[in-house]
Amino acid sequence: MYNFLRNILFVFPPEAVHHLSMNCLKLLCSIGLKRVIRSVFSNKTVASGEWSVSGLQFRNPVGLGAGFDKNAKYLRELEALGFGFVEIGTVTPLAQKGNDKPRLFRLPKDKALINRMGFNNDGVKVIAERLRQWSIVNRQSKDSPLTTDHSRLIIGGNIGKNKVTPNDEAWRDYEICFKELHPYVDYFVVNVSSPNTPGLRELQEKESLRKILVHLQMINNGKAEAKPIFLKIAPDLTQEQINDVIDLALEIKLDGLVATNTTISREGLTTDHAQLTRMGAGGLSGLPVKQRSTEVVKYICDKTKGAVPVIASGGIFTGADAKEKLDAGAALVQVWTGFIYEGPGIVKKIMSQLHDLEIGR
Ligand SMILES: Cc1cc2nc3c(=O)[nH]c(=O)nc-3n(C[C@H](O)[C@H](O)[C@H](O)COP(=O)(O)O)c2cc1C
Repeated sequence: MYNFLRNILFVFPPEAVHHLSMNCLKLLCSIGLKRVIRSVFSNKTVASGEWSVSGLQFRNPVGLGAGFDKNAKYLRELEALGFGFVEIGTVTPLAQKGNDKPRLFRLPKDKALINRMGFNNDGVKVIAERLRQWSIVNRQSKDSPLTTDHSRLIIGGNIGKNKVTPNDEAWRDYEICFKELHPYVDYFVVNVSSPNTPGLRELQEKESLRKILVHLQMINNGKAEAKPIFLKIAPDLTQEQINDVIDLALEIKLDGLVATNTTISREGLTTDHAQLTRMGAGGLSGLPVKQRSTEVVKYICDKTKGAVPVIASGGIFTGADAKEKLDAGAALVQVWTGFIYEGPGIVKKIMSQLHDLEIGR
């Protein structure tokens, strides 16, 4: 069914389809069909509370990666599709338009996407207010009893810096986003690995990372309730750079890593070279990044003997792909490109395939 719909959707520009589909879903939920959608797409294969990471209880291990719901506009709808967690953002202190369009491209022959969105988002103040409103409606206070409509969706806040902020002042941008979002998200992801903000990935160097992360940890420790802080890394890091990240994560007791972001590599693609040249620069995601992402996850998990929880991201389309990441040591998985290619039933499908593969923990 979705295969047929996908053929139609793929005729239109990807960014327009993205907004149209999510707004249609929003409309359906707003006219009272949320329960119907939830019952169609929910999975009942894993008992609640079985997936516990950094003190958070996930209803299932399948999340939505950052960049899909950049502005936290579709949390209710994404929860209805069965996601155990959604990572909003990347959020920056000031609103940004991002790069000129077109900036998102499909590579169907490779089951991939190339994007150079450039952190387009509404800015942290607007997004924090949206989350505040969402939590009033969907979250119960700790003291009040749960209702059936109480949301168990875990929300991650993926934070970054504005394009105009120089790298040596980046720590301030992360601080602003961290403080503004702190009351409303369950965990944070420090994003220094997107290829579409010039110079951002230089912040993956050990001392730059230390400065940002230790500063955020200090602020976090001053709060009544500390929130887990993860770091998201690129698949293009060398082994030496990954070793530096691991050393630092262990040294400062970072809560975890998200591995990996999109790649700047174009190796092994079957898409026509001229087409690739026309698409231009950007991060490649989907099937071509799957193997490298699994390698990085496995390397980190083996080297740290599981001491640093890893959320795996990169090329997950099926239960077998998710199992590959979990077998490599990942604590949770995230989809993004897979959602575009497999459609709204992806979480249900992954969960039932995982169940069939008998890895329910
Ligand atoms: C259009 C698009 C926008 C993205 N935006 C962000 C972003 O803002 N922040 C971020 O950390 N990752 C972003 N990502 C990366 C994804 O979260 C994910 O890590 C990556 O695409 C690999 O997973 P996948 O192969 O399942 O797509 C984006 C990916 C895509 C395709």
